[in-house]
Amino acid sequence: MCTVDIVSLLGINEHCSLPLVLVTRRLPASALKKLQSVCEVDLNRDHQGLSVNLLCERIQGKLGLLCLVNDVIDRQVIDAAPELRVIANVAVGYDNIDVEYASRRGIVVTNTPDVLTASVAEFTWGLILSIARRITEGDRLIRSNQWTGWALDFMLGMELNGKRLGIIGYGRIGRAVAASAKAFGMNVVVAASSSSGSKSENTLDEEDDNIRWVSFDELLVSSDVVSLHVPMNAKTTNLIDRRALTRMKRTAFLVNASRGSVVDEDAVIWALEEKLIAGAALDVYESEPAVQKKLLSLENVVLSPHLGSATRETRTAMAELAVSNVIAVLGGEEPLTPVLS
Ligand code: GLV
Repeated sequence: MCTVDIVSLLGINEHCSLPLVLVTRRLPASALKKLQSVCEVDLNRDHQGLSVNLLCERIQGKLGLLCLVNDVIDRQVIDAAPELRVIANVAVGYDNIDVEYASRRGIVVTNTPDVLTASVAEFTWGLILSIARRITEGDRLIRSNQWTGWALDFMLGMELNGKRLGIIGYGRIGRAVAASAKAFGMNVVVAASSSSGSKSENTLDEEDDNIRWVSFDELLVSSDVVSLHVPMNAKTTNLIDRRALTRMKRTAFLVNASRGSVVDEDAVIWALEEKLIAGAALDVYESEPAVQKKLLSLENVVLSPHLGSATRETRTAMAELAVSNVIAVLGGEEPLTPVLS
């Protein structure tokens, strides 16, 4: 799409001005260049992002908004931009945006599915391996000069081979995680959250005798690793609460690379302290970037700073997809990846 197409389609070319787009944080150069070739970009270069007040100020007069997962795009922000046509989130999750309100206002909201699936699935396996085989714990031990030597019973972990992986949320990422389980000798059970979906909505699409559908409760009681891959919404908030944690095996690990609020963080700390589960590997938190102090003091926890999709390749692809969505919508075309169709 050339500049002229967008400008003429929007009917704003009296003075040959380009459509105004706000970008809330730095983007990979290729994505920014592409956007700047057809739009006038107001780029916030500050890594910290914009405060609500600044966001409301800078979004005025903009037709497009390209934002990140840690930008809260609520009614107040949306109302500050009466001409806004598109909100492109550089993330697959979009719980940071009031999608329902934006849709009512006729604003298209887009996300970045598919391009990050492999990256997040890879990272999930990193979390599973780190917590089950105590890799980050061992790293801490060496760095604090506490390693006294090899011993037959030293830092024993749980072998994955022959164990059961329980995947809650069998969407794109859940499927990609399941697809690698055979390589580690794990069998897989999958479930929707007790309230976030049903088997019919999430059917096993391929005949794979290594993967079996079970109820939410059966998954909890029978899995050696429970990995969360549901989107965050009203139904999945605190899905893993005290009750769910008490259903898990005492030897099992909880892995979360979805959204922090899918687990009740206080309940997880309680379960770890009471040794109701063997450990947890968390990439996401309820109040990012704050992480509860108690989590920091527990040895049987792996903590990573929301890195699920953080590869050069994937982050570039996500930004480019978001840019393509902005350009498509402002050019009068269908968005590539709308969150609601
Ligand atoms: C990141 O957390 C995403 O939703 O893409």
